[in-house]
Amino acid sequence: MSARTVGIPTEVKDHEERVALTPAAVASVVARGHRVLVQSAAGIGAGFSDGDFKDAGAELVGDAEDVWAADVVVKVKEPQRSEYGLFRDGLTLFTYLHLAAEPELTEALVRTGVDAYAYETLTDRGLLPLLAPMSEIAGRAAAIIGANQLSAASGGSGTLLGGAAGVPPAKVLVIGLGVAGTMAARGARGLDAHVTGIDVDLQRLYDHHLDGTVDATQISEAALVAAHVREADLVVGAALVPGARAPTVVTEEMVASMRPGAVVVDLAIDQGGCIETARPTTLSEPTYTAHGVLHYCVTNVPGQFPRTASAALSAAVGPRLLRLLDDPEGPGLTGAANVLGGRIVHPAVAATFPDLPHRDGPDTTTPEG
Ligand SMILES: NC(=O)c1ccc[n+]([C@@H]2O[C@H](COP(=O)([O-])OP(=O)(O)OC[C@H]3O[C@@H](n4cnc5c(N)ncnc54)[C@H](O)[C@@H]3O)[C@@H](O)[C@H]2O)c1
Repeated sequence: MSARTVGIPTEVKDHEERVALTPAAVASVVARGHRVLVQSAAGIGAGFSDGDFKDAGAELVGDAEDVWAADVVVKVKEPQRSEYGLFRDGLTLFTYLHLAAEPELTEALVRTGVDAYAYETLTDRGLLPLLAPMSEIAGRAAAIIGANQLSAASGGSGTLLGGAAGVPPAKVLVIGLGVAGTMAARGARGLDAHVTGIDVDLQRLYDHHLDGTVDATQISEAALVAAHVREADLVVGAALVPGARAPTVVTEEMVASMRPGAVVVDLAIDQGGCIETARPTTLSEPTYTAHGVLHYCVTNVPGQFPRTASAALSAAVGPRLLRLLDDPEGPGLTGAANVLGGRIVHPAVAATFPDLPHRDGPDTTTPEG
């Protein structure tokens, strides 16, 4: 194993305050003989000073360019347009990518020859261990955010999730009972809402039916989803097909059938959204109204809880980064490679962008003849 240089940039996405590694995780990387460059102030929002990183053995650098000159850049959110100019052949990038919803980013990675490994597609024993920590946080947040958006002061219908004596609780519909959906359901139930969970996976519905995470379960069939959406005060979107664009589970027609001031929180927006009327919003301007329904579709929900989220992310990313530094082809990184040497290598991402070069197809950038 040769010593590598690892760069940790300050996140530039709107209101994104997370940092990929904590000082403790940086110390583990340094202890393995690698150099770690941390951009000044990268950890401030998460509660870590430059001094904390220095004490852990990192070198502090002022400019993003210097961090991105490292062999391996490890970060939190998908690179923003202002960062595409820092891509280069030979760079390894380890971060959330969500390429199915990011055609420009995908094209830039392919064109520049960056080896891009995504947290959200890394699989281990059927789970998504680098997506799960942020899904847990986003799911918990979705219940709190949805409850708040329902207040009249936020532009919602003025419905309190838990109801009151003689007044039935609000109806919450959770689409996709994976990690994010389960946590959203638990949060909403904790506030005494009536929660229905929808999924395509019958085993998952069976498990939640038995463990009482939800009041009711429903298999994901369009007509049945429509009936539940019509009655819902709050819909949380959390359906995922790893690597692929999110399936449209709630159509525009279904949203139009909801009562005025109802709320949708589409967490799946980072993969394109599972609610047809959802479009990405920012933490600066998180909501908009469509068909009288308040939409919250922020693509970096955990970014507003940087202390908890950075610690949780770092705990998951740190050990996998060590594996990546040791041997990117080795165990522990299954499914993470999205783009290698100018070609898309993840099957679901390749299927989303059939016109870009991919491993199993012809190199479409090569002129014919
Ligand atoms: N917006 C944010 O800030 C944020 C943060 C974290 C995670 N997320 C996103 O939340 C989404 C869910 O992540 P997760 O970790 O919970 O995924 P997960 O794999 O744990 O769960 C996804 C669930 O969706 C179900 N599903 C798939 N197709 C469906 C369909 N047609 N109808 C109903 N259910 C369907 C799957 O069976 C699975 O149970 C992802 O897109 C993830 O990237 C967003």
